Amino acid sequence: MQGVPFLKGERVTLRTITRADAPKFLRWINDPVTSRFLLRGDFPLGWDDEMEWIDKVARRKEDHLSLGIEVPEFGLVGNVSLKVESWIDRVATTGTMIGEAATRGKGYGTEAKMLLLGHAFRRLNLRKVYSNVCASNEASHRCQLRCGYVEEGRYRDDLYREGRYHDLLVLSATRESFEAAEAAWKEKRVTQQEGLIMDFSGSAVPRLFH
Ligand SMILES: CC(C)(COP(=O)(O)OP(=O)(O)OC[C@H]1O[C@@H](n2cnc3c(N)ncnc32)[C@H](O)[C@@H]1OP(=O)(O)O)[C@@H](O)C(=O)NCCC(=O)NCCS
Repeated sequence: MQGVPFLKGERVTLRTITRADAPKFLRWINDPVTSRFLLRGDFPLGWDDEMEWIDKVARRKEDHLSLGIEVPEFGLVGNVSLKVESWIDRVATTGTMIGEAATRGKGYGTEAKMLLLGHAFRRLNLRKVYSNVCASNEASHRCQLRCGYVEEGRYRDDLYREGRYHDLLVLSATRESFEAAEAAWKEKRVTQQEGLIMDFSGSAVPRLFH
């Protein structure tokens, strides 16, 4: 693994980003499918842009954390970020990208976001964490709801993507909403891991065969 492990989950480790990660980030951010709902990617990004971003990430870590999402099967698959907007109001904004297309929809984005929010609320004592999501980005919207974000507002026809305007949703999570969501998510995972299935009478029975 490149970088230094910082937050460790069951399947996902959030770690520091290094210059050796640049080729992956360049490929992802210049991929129009990956960047279609992101704020970056409208113009080509090259090696120098990427090095500048990685060096900035290494310097600015006290108010703007950007961490790589590492999983054992695939290595680095994306990144999460937490930008503290105000230490007085104790508010921040998050962003997530699973860049490796084949690794989307496997729960890595949700687990990475859970780890980051746990750090934001329980370690950094933040009060409210925002996320802006394109209303048409179903995977991102569902991921945020799963992590305890609720809708605060909607900017209508705000983002121009793929030939039309889309609404931009402003979502936020508090420690309470996050911890309720985290508990439900952990419980769901335990149930999945135990392989419980429902028999016809509706009671839970262990799955014996795969
Ligand atoms: C958005 C993103 C971070 C989600 O991460 P992920 O690992 O792919 O998503 P997860 O597997 O954790 O699933 C999160 C939720 O989205 C749902 N989902 C996943 N892929 C989906 C898809 N293609 N369409 C609709 N829903 C989808 C999952 O079912 C899950 O919902 P649930 O918990 O209610 O079942 C990731 O897909 C991504 O980075 N996409 C490209 C960049 C981007 O758009 N970033 C977000 C900018 S705000």
